[in-house]
Amino acid sequence: MSHKIAVIGGDGIGPEVTAVALDVMAAAGADLATTEFRLGGFRYLEDGVVLPDDTLEELRAYDAILLGAVGTPEVPPGVIERGLLLKARFELDLYVNLRPFVLKDGHEFVVIRENTEGTYAGEGGFLRKGTKDEIATQGSVNTRKGAERCIRYGFELAMGRERKHLTLVHKTNVLTFSGDLWERTFEEVAVEYPEVETAYNHVDAACIYFVEDPTRYEVVVTDNLFGDILTDLGGAVAGGIGLASSANLNPDRNSPSLFEPVHGSAPDIAGKGLANPTAAVLSGAMMLDFLGENETANRVRAACNGVPDSGPTTDIAAAIMSNLSSSSS
Ligand code: IPM
Ligand code: MN
Repeated sequence: MSHKIAVIGGDGIGPEVTAVALDVMAAAGADLATTEFRLGGFRYLEDGVVLPDDTLEELRAYDAILLGAVGTPEVPPGVIERGLLLKARFELDLYVNLRPFVLKDGHEFVVIRENTEGTYAGEGGFLRKGTKDEIATQGSVNTRKGAERCIRYGFELAMGRERKHLTLVHKTNVLTFSGDLWERTFEEVAVEYPEVETAYNHVDAACIYFVEDPTRYEVVVTDNLFGDILTDLGGAVAGGIGLASSANLNPDRNSPSLFEPVHGSAPDIAGKGLANPTAAVLSGAMMLDFLGENETANRVRAACNGVPDSGPTTDIAAAIMSNLSSSSS
């Protein structure tokens, strides 16, 4: 079956790694009808366009969105991040940000990052900006519904895993309002899943365990900002950020989900042919899974095993392609 895919290569290394992901998926047998959307910092610099509402409406007609990376140093921070990526996450209600990790010893775990609320929501502002009495606030928005749907997704995911183990990560000892809401919600939903073994870690302790004892984790659920930081750390301990893939999901399928590597646009190496395309390829595999093409997704993932984790993009791409053809012959 052919799937309609909106492709946003974006900035920096985004287009290079996205092109490899599309080639690999096609070679693995995926039937994707792609449409390119010229969006990102480069486009903003051309004509001021970030993500207009009518473009967002157009995106809704696709089965999924594949994104490379957005953001460029020539554009002030926040313009593209908030105006494009966060706008897509919020408006398309992509409330689960799923980020899987595979350690060198084979241990696999996954982080569910809440993706539409928390400090990312944009609550806050300035008072007396630019004066010596300046005040800036940046609130954290936590709704019962927003926390519950991610926590519930976590329990469902844990039910399908070997250990049926779910860890809540937060900072309940200091964030006594939002942490309390998350913890109470977690405990209430847990009652419905008696088979799932649960744990709780403060986020600072979780940072230590991610490095020193990651095998304690199978499924982790956490808020937006903790999840942002923790998943960069996850990438670092699981072979580097060049391998870290992610899915921004609307599990209810009311809108297309968006798939992107965890890494950014890496302007320092853009255009040099040195980007590791593996994270983008693995994000493509997550997209294929979500589209129901599980066999093709497994082929793509298997082809990424044992490829070099640095070096020229074309060498890594060729290694993935060669693994693919040897697996199908
Ligand atoms: C990520 C990125 C984004 C985030 C940025 C680019 C807005 O770091 O996907 O983790 O903070 O969510
Ligand atoms: Mn991040």
